[in-house]
Amino acid sequence: MNENNWFDTARFGMFIHWGVYALTARGEWTESIEKMTIEEYEKYVKFFNPDLFDPKGWAAVAKAAGMKYLIITSKHHDGFCLWDTKYTDYNSVNAPRCRRDLLREIVDAFRKAGLNIGIYYSLADWHHPDYEIDDRHPLRDKPAPRNWQGYIEFLQNQVQELLTNYGKVDIIWFDGGYPDHNWEAEKLDAMIRSLQPDILINRLPGFSDFHSPEQTIPSQGIRDEAGNLLPWEGCQVLSGGCWGYSRDNQWKTPEEVVQMLVRHTSRGGNLLLNVGPTSRGSLDNHSGAILREIAEWMRWNSRSIHGCTVAPAEFPEPEDCRYTWNPETRCLYLHFFVWPDRRIFLPKLADKVEYAQLLCDGSEIMMTEHTPGNVHGAKVPEGSLMLSLPVARPDTLEPVIEIFMK
Ligand code: GLC
Repeated sequence: MNENNWFDTARFGMFIHWGVYALTARGEWTESIEKMTIEEYEKYVKFFNPDLFDPKGWAAVAKAAGMKYLIITSKHHDGFCLWDTKYTDYNSVNAPRCRRDLLREIVDAFRKAGLNIGIYYSLADWHHPDYEIDDRHPLRDKPAPRNWQGYIEFLQNQVQELLTNYGKVDIIWFDGGYPDHNWEAEKLDAMIRSLQPDILINRLPGFSDFHSPEQTIPSQGIRDEAGNLLPWEGCQVLSGGCWGYSRDNQWKTPEEVVQMLVRHTSRGGNLLLNVGPTSRGSLDNHSGAILREIAEWMRWNSRSIHGCTVAPAEFPEPEDCRYTWNPETRCLYLHFFVWPDRRIFLPKLADKVEYAQLLCDGSEIMMTEHTPGNVHGAKVPEGSLMLSLPVARPDTLEPVIEIFMK
């Protein structure tokens, strides 16, 4: 891990899966799942017309939601490139109804909005004539000899191009680096770090700077054998089970997304939340509406997320709750997944707290230090702090109490 620690405090990023697979509205694996030939898939390139493409709008939505960085698919497994690459014609500048360097506009817009920039690049490539026809390839029923070294050269050239022509890149995020291929990762790693010394590398087999669980949240974060927390980022979908735009999917609710963000933060990880814009280049209505609700929650509650991490182990979490902890300000944040009845007892916090307030309106929460015994019929463990809560659940996606330690 590099000196800069922006990644450890960011906690929330936007993942964007966008490419010609958006036209299928059946996800980014359609070409392989439906075993399309290159010619069949080309109709999506021909009809790709992002007339409502609005990277400034995407960046504004991400920023308002409290997202601190972007990961954008420059090329997914289908091999279609969103930038002006000189190594293949299969790119957005040559697509007849597009004709722009989409990556440049996206990167410029997000950088201008103050977000850090990450580029996703698929190591797998179903379009390149030298990429091996493995058992995930759309042409897997029609095996043919391929020149692997030719592909390795192509991928090294493309990565070099991306890390040379698009300014400072904070993360290079690889995917599709299946272990049954030799990616010459060591060489790639050296080249990347010489071009962008502060960059973080993800999912380059053997050379990743952080861990990258997908569609799952490790219950205790990711730790080494001694129990020390390692840097990690969970990537999660906003709808269904795929990443590219999928029209018929079920979207997560805003409450689920906030809980997801809290689950990541409370275990010391970042949430990389995916959106799949439509082929016309806009966010679909569901995603836009969900992110606006997240933005409203973050407006009041972002202090419990940015800069926060796992709480000290000496403070066990009460039932149905999560803690996040800001080590700089020494504030502990109590997140409620379920709103309790009137009182909550916080183990081992008696005599340790100076003040507590609801974060969504800055209103005092009354505290009582309790000695062991029976409080209103409940057996309360020694050293608990009792908080008296409003009867009505505060009107917010997820209530948070900010606890200032002595
Ligand atoms: C999986 C999917 C891929 C997606 C990635 C995101 O590897 O196969 O389509 O881009 O997850 O993490």
